[in-house]
Amino acid sequence: MKVSVIGTGYVGLVAAAGFADHGNDVLCADINEDKIEALRRGEIPIYEPGLDALVERNVAAGRLRFTTSNAEAARHGRVIVLAVGTPTRDHGGGADLSYMFAAATEVAEHLDHPVIVVNKSTVPVGTAERVARLMGEHTSQPVTVASNPEFLKEGSAVNDFMKPDRVIIGTADEQARKVLELLYQPFCRTNDRMLFMDARSAELTKYACNAYLAARISFMNDMANLSDAVGADVERVRRGMGSDPRIGNKFLYPGVGYGGSCFPKDTRALLNTAREYGLTLEIVASAERINEVQKLVLVRKVRAHFSGDLVGKQFALWGLSFKPNTDDIREAPALRIASALLAEGARLRLHDPIAGANFMEALGDKSGDAALFDDPYEAARDADALLLVTEWRQFRSPDFDRLKQLLRTPALFDGRNQWDRGHVESLGFTYHGIGR
Ligand SMILES: NC(=O)c1ccc[n+]([C@@H]2O[C@H](COP(=O)([O-])OP(=O)(O)OC[C@H]3O[C@@H](n4cnc5c(N)ncnc54)[C@H](O)[C@@H]3O)[C@@H](O)[C@H]2O)c1
Repeated sequence: MKVSVIGTGYVGLVAAAGFADHGNDVLCADINEDKIEALRRGEIPIYEPGLDALVERNVAAGRLRFTTSNAEAARHGRVIVLAVGTPTRDHGGGADLSYMFAAATEVAEHLDHPVIVVNKSTVPVGTAERVARLMGEHTSQPVTVASNPEFLKEGSAVNDFMKPDRVIIGTADEQARKVLELLYQPFCRTNDRMLFMDARSAELTKYACNAYLAARISFMNDMANLSDAVGADVERVRRGMGSDPRIGNKFLYPGVGYGGSCFPKDTRALLNTAREYGLTLEIVASAERINEVQKLVLVRKVRAHFSGDLVGKQFALWGLSFKPNTDDIREAPALRIASALLAEGARLRLHDPIAGANFMEALGDKSGDAALFDDPYEAARDADALLLVTEWRQFRSPDFDRLKQLLRTPALFDGRNQWDRGHVESLGFTYHGIGR
């Protein structure tokens, strides 16, 4: 099948390569010329495990090509997938649909055949209808717009896309349903994982999933803070809860709050949608409020430990991306933590396996008192404390003896409850976890 994908970000590039891998003829478009140039040189502009091999294989086979021209993409695909960004628009928290509308308009203006347009971006309820109306104003070709929200997770995006838990297709159009069923069938061989519904329900399903997962995290952070207060260990509470099959053990990890390019903006956008309909989503609103406070939990613990005076203190931060196995630092808790510590007069020694450069760029003007190190132990040298912010696997069992020698004072702030309190205390560290 001829497929065009508009937007070569974390979602678009993975989807394009995934479709190509099943034999489709895929043209991937982006307005970012640097990205397209890099892709044409064989470089992957983002870090995503396994994506380089997938792209390389399909480019070599001639099934995956890149262009900066949405017009060319419009003329290529029978199915046109929109995977552009939908960031937060304004203080109200609504989603910015300007990229989507710009892409849809440009595609429509250059259509020379009927198409099925697939909204893969996360968009508010009613967007498929708006895109259909908008495109209809710019073309006389028949256009059907379906909602097909994406559920891949950064860090395991390739596997998630190739073996999805479910594929949701939101359309009332029988022909579009058949074509998209054909497109996705190879991804759902072992199980019947395709769910068909109307576009509005599909659009809402995506937000409901992210809001629910965000709420689980905030619930556990609430339990962690209560555990701190009452002298319980939230890790034991977590295991006790997770062993109940009605609850399950995923997404029950307390920590420094959720970040990333999805949960924060999607909960805000969902709250905004509810407001537009005169409703308040109390649980989602609380999840967001709790998360804002939780992002600074480590800073509060550090402040208490050093009696409120951080001026001239030096802290090592391990893990800067919003979660392990990605270079994405959008809304990463580490950004809030670093900014707060710098504002209180501290200096920072930073390390991340992948995301360091992105992080320094995002810190911008504030990065003067922050230094980035390739080696985690160098980052720890002469620091007054080490803060574990993002739980990359290589941080799970560090050389604590070496750390003890390098740190100026042996204080550990474990923002992800990765380390065994008894073990590190027996080595002479002071340990601060979350809810333990
Ligand atoms: N990142 C994730 O883990 C994830 C998971 C599920 C869903 N989503 C959703 O998917 C969408 C895309 O997310 P992302 O993380 O891939 O974004 P991204 O920012 O990584 O990529 C978006 C790309 O779209 C391009 N673009 C913008 N306007 C364009 C236009 N008019 N024509 C062509 N290209 C254009 C940008 O240059 C950019 O490369 C968002 O709605 C997001 O919420 C993301």
